[in-house]
Amino acid sequence: MAENTHDRINRYIEDTIAAERNFENALASFSKSGAQQSVQRMFSSASAKAKTQHERLTALLKRRGGTPSEAKTVLAEMLAFTPLTAQLGQGAGEKNAQHLIVTFGAAAAEMAMYESLAVAAAQEGDTEAVTLARTLQSEEKDDYDQVWAILRPSSREAFEAEVAGGKEPQQVIKRYLEDVIAAEKSFEMQLQGFSKEGDDTASQQLFAQHARETRTQYEQLTARLHALGGSPSTAKSILAHFFALAPKTAQIGHDKAERVTQNLMMAYSVENAEVAMYESLAEVARAAGDSATTQLALEIQQQEKQTAEKVWAQIDSAARRSIALAA
Ligand SMILES: [Fe+2]
Ligand SMILES: [Fe+2]
Repeated sequence: MAENTHDRINRYIEDTIAAERNFENALASFSKSGAQQSVQRMFSSASAKAKTQHERLTALLKRRGGTPSEAKTVLAEMLAFTPLTAQLGQGAGEKNAQHLIVTFGAAAAEMAMYESLAVAAAQEGDTEAVTLARTLQSEEKDDYDQVWAILRPSSREAFEAEVAGGKEPQQVIKRYLEDVIAAEKSFEMQLQGFSKEGDDTASQQLFAQHARETRTQYEQLTARLHALGGSPSTAKSILAHFFALAPKTAQIGHDKAERVTQNLMMAYSVENAEVAMYESLAEVARAAGDSATTQLALEIQQQEKQTAEKVWAQIDSAARRSIALAA
């Protein structure tokens, strides 16, 4: 049964509603965790905003004759942040900083999601849908900017609280490196998977190339960890879980072109989370007086920024191909 353009766009709107609902809940739980009140307040207002967003999307969907479904996409799963229990063993302030990192990635995911929706709705000529997609996209950009503005102070405050509580600065840096290495390893596997999926050579090559770069990154990070007398652990933080992404089964029902678009959206999200992760690591290493780790973090961060830009540049054409395949 062929799906027409109108129904396909309704399905995209259903996807965004599911994603915003999950994100609203995740942000509400972030607003109650940790120790840093300014961060908690920011999450609380972002959660309230996500609620009005899925309400506006639901109104749009109804006007278009659709109904919200229970079906969940990989993006919705990603924004649900289910494995929050993975944070055992961390300081309260560190939880706030980690929540900022994953929220930065989530806001980027939503910016990409609305880009794809705006492109699809423009193909159908639904200007009201285009306008709503662009409005919500700029609201996500606001969240993204707000998170960025408090990420460094939050990371530094978390580090200082750990040291004040009796932790050795170098022990803290080693733990951060372990988290980052686990996250990079998770994501390398995802990138290899992405490089074999879909039907688009340009994105496959980009994913394969960055999988190789990612391997080099965690080798460099592992060498740094060894130099500090540590060794990679098997414990996984929320970062590693976020980077391992959602179960692949969530993508059932999407055709190959749509899978390309979804992989690009997820990659854009993870690359941004990495940019934030290295911003945080660089700040903490700076606070610890560890210039070698600071420098390594900033070098890798540049690679993540460049990859994020390359991924973004492919989203519009992928979204256009996805919608062109509808009947
Ligand atoms: Fe990376
Ligand atoms: Fe990356």
